Amino acid sequence: MGYYGNKSATLQQLRDGGADLNFSALPAFGTVDAIHLPAIQVQHADGDLNLELKVTDYQTSSDDRSQLHIFTMTDKLLPVTVKVFYKAYKNVDVIETWTEISHKEKRAITLKRFDSGHLTLRQGDVWISHLHGNWAAETEPTTEPLTQGLKTIRNTDGARNSHLDAPELMISLDGEPQETTGRVIAAILCWSGNYELRINTTGHRQHQFYAGIDPMSSEYVLEPNELFETPHLALAYSEDGLGGASRTIHRWARTEGMFHRGMKTGDILLNSWEGVVFDGGELFVMDDGWFGDKYPRNNDSSSLGDWVVDKRKLPGGISTLTQAARQRGIKFGIWIEPEMCNTVSELYEKHPDWMLQTKGRELKQGRGGTQVVLDLTNPKVQDFIFGIVDNLMTQNPDIAYIKWDANASIQNYGSLYLPKDKQNNISILWHRGLINVLKRIRAKYPDLVMQDCASGGGRANYGLLPYFDEFWVSDNNDALQRVYIQYGTSYFFPANAMAQHIGGSPYWNTGGRVIPIKFRCDVAMSGRLGMELQPRHMSQEEHDQCTQAFADYKLLRPVVQTGNLYRLISPYNRKGVSSIMFSNDAMDHAVWFVYKVDNYVDQPLPRIQLAGLDPERSYTITERNIKVGQKPCELNGKTFTGRFLMDIGLEVPLASDYASRIFELK
Ligand code: DGJ
Repeated sequence: MGYYGNKSATLQQLRDGGADLNFSALPAFGTVDAIHLPAIQVQHADGDLNLELKVTDYQTSSDDRSQLHIFTMTDKLLPVTVKVFYKAYKNVDVIETWTEISHKEKRAITLKRFDSGHLTLRQGDVWISHLHGNWAAETEPTTEPLTQGLKTIRNTDGARNSHLDAPELMISLDGEPQETTGRVIAAILCWSGNYELRINTTGHRQHQFYAGIDPMSSEYVLEPNELFETPHLALAYSEDGLGGASRTIHRWARTEGMFHRGMKTGDILLNSWEGVVFDGGELFVMDDGWFGDKYPRNNDSSSLGDWVVDKRKLPGGISTLTQAARQRGIKFGIWIEPEMCNTVSELYEKHPDWMLQTKGRELKQGRGGTQVVLDLTNPKVQDFIFGIVDNLMTQNPDIAYIKWDANASIQNYGSLYLPKDKQNNISILWHRGLINVLKRIRAKYPDLVMQDCASGGGRANYGLLPYFDEFWVSDNNDALQRVYIQYGTSYFFPANAMAQHIGGSPYWNTGGRVIPIKFRCDVAMSGRLGMELQPRHMSQEEHDQCTQAFADYKLLRPVVQTGNLYRLISPYNRKGVSSIMFSNDAMDHAVWFVYKVDNYVDQPLPRIQLAGLDPERSYTITERNIKVGQKPCELNGKTFTGRFLMDIGLEVPLASDYASRIFELK
C-alpha cells in the first residue's frame, strides 16, 4: 500500500475517498502481472528468474533530522532478502528511498534490474520535465505530457552522466508544468554513472515511475552475503509548481546533498583556462597544462597520469605560485583529472594494466586521440588516485581548491583486475571506487574546496555532490547562452553549487559572438562568480566593469548564493527578457536579475512581478553593477511595498541589445 503527496491526508481518508492504494513498493519480476514492469529482477544461482517478495520485518527509527522506515522482504522460495528504505526529512519535504539486496544462496546470483525506487501515480494530465543537452549546451528543460507507453530517460557515457540527459526529473501532476502553481514531484537519482528513469503508462489509471542504475551496462554478480546497496532516489514534493519543487530540492541539497558548502558561500574565482589573475578576486585556479615531465602537457594528447610539475613551465614548482597568491592575499587552487590517463604518459608506460581494457581488443582512445580511463575497480588504482591529491596537499598545504575534471567516457568495458565472472560489475564498481577515493580525500581534507567538473557540466549530479562543493556548469561561457543553461540548471541545483564565470568576447565557442562586459558580469553574478578572462587582453572598459562587479557581488553574495530562488520569467518563453531573483529566509534582503535576451523595435516587454517578499514590508531598490560611466536607472532609490512588487510589479528600462540590470532590495 502506498501514497506520496500532501502530508495532511491519512491513508484512511484516501481509501474512503476512493483511492486505490494497493501498489507494490518494489514490483519484482516473477510476481508482477503482465502489465507492470519490474523494479527488481534477479537470476538465482540455480537459474530461477523469479522473485516473490513478502514482507518479513518492519523497523522504524528517528533522529533530529529524519525518520527512517525499513521494510524487509524475502523471497518465498530462495534466501534472497531485499530491504526497502524510506528516509523522510523533517525540515524539508523530501523522502529518500533506496534498497539493499543480499542473499545466502550457495553461489552468486545475478541482479538483472535493481531500481532505487518506484512510485505509482494516478493517471491524468501528468507532465514531465527533465534536463536535456549536450557539451556546451547543457540543461535545456524538456517538457512533455505522459502518454500511453514507456518513456525512458537514460545515459550511457559510463563515467559522466549529465551532458545529454540528466538523472533528475520533475513530474507535474496538474497539467502543463507551471512555475508557481500545481503539484510537482521532483525525483533525483543520486548516482554518477549510467542510469534509467522510466515511466510506464498503462491502461490501468496508473503511471509507474522507476529510477535506478542502468542495468544494460551493469547486470551485477552478487556473491553470497555481499550487500548490494542501490543509490538513493530523492523525492521532493511541492504544491507551488516547478519553482517550489526547485526551492525544496535546493534546501535538501544544502543540508543533505552537497559537501560542506551547505549555506556557505564560494569565493570569487579566477580561472586560468580561458584567462588569469585580476584585482578583487579571492582565489586563483591554475587549470590544465601545468604537469608532465618526460611528456609535457602542451596539448590534450599526453601526460594525464603524470602529476608532477613541468619545471620548464614552473621552474619554482607549485610553491612559488602558492606563495605569490598568499602575498597577494588570495587563495590558490589547481586543476587535475585524476581518473584519466593518456597512452602517451609515464603512467601508461609503467602500468598499462591500470587502464580499463579488454585483452585482444583495440584500446579505444578519447580526447586528444590518446585518453583512456583508469580502472577504478582496482584498489591499487584507487590508492594512486588518492595519492594524487594527497601528494599535492602534503607538498603544498596551501592549496585551497581543486578543480577535478573528467574528459572521457568509458569506452573500453573490460578490467584486467576483475575476474572473468565479474566483468559485469565494472560500471558499478568503477563508480563505487571513485566514491571510495572521494571519501578518503574528504576524511583527510575536509576544508579543501573541490569543484566537480567534466568537460563542462558532465557531472552535475547528486551522486558526486556529497563530496564536492560546487560544479562547473558548462564549458560555454557565452553569456547569452549561459542565461538559458543556468536557468535550466537551477531546476535542480542551488546557486552556491553553480560555478559561473565571466567569459571573453568575441566568444570562441559561439561563432565569435560579441557581448558587452556588463551583461557578461550580470549573468555570471547569479551564481558562484568567477572569471575566465585573460587580463592582458582585457579592455579598460572590461577592467573597470569587472572591478565594480566584484565589489558589488561581495555585497550580494550571501543572498544570491544561499537565498531562495524565484524564476520570474523564463528565457524560453520568448518574452524578450529573462528574470530570476533570490531572497533570504527573513525576506529582508533580495537580489533581482533582469536580462534582455532579444531585442527588436516596438517590442512589448513584460512588467515583472517579483516573488519571495514580505507583502507588508517596504523595500528600497538599489541598482548594482551599473554600467560603468552610466547613471543608475530611475528605479534606483525608490521604495515599494512587497505587496506592490509581487502583485503589480515593475517596468525595467532595457533599451539596447544585451541590456541587463541587477537590483538589490532591502
Ligand atoms: C574541461 C573543463 O570543462 C574546462 O574548464 C577545462 O578545465 C578543460 N577541461 C581543461 O582541459
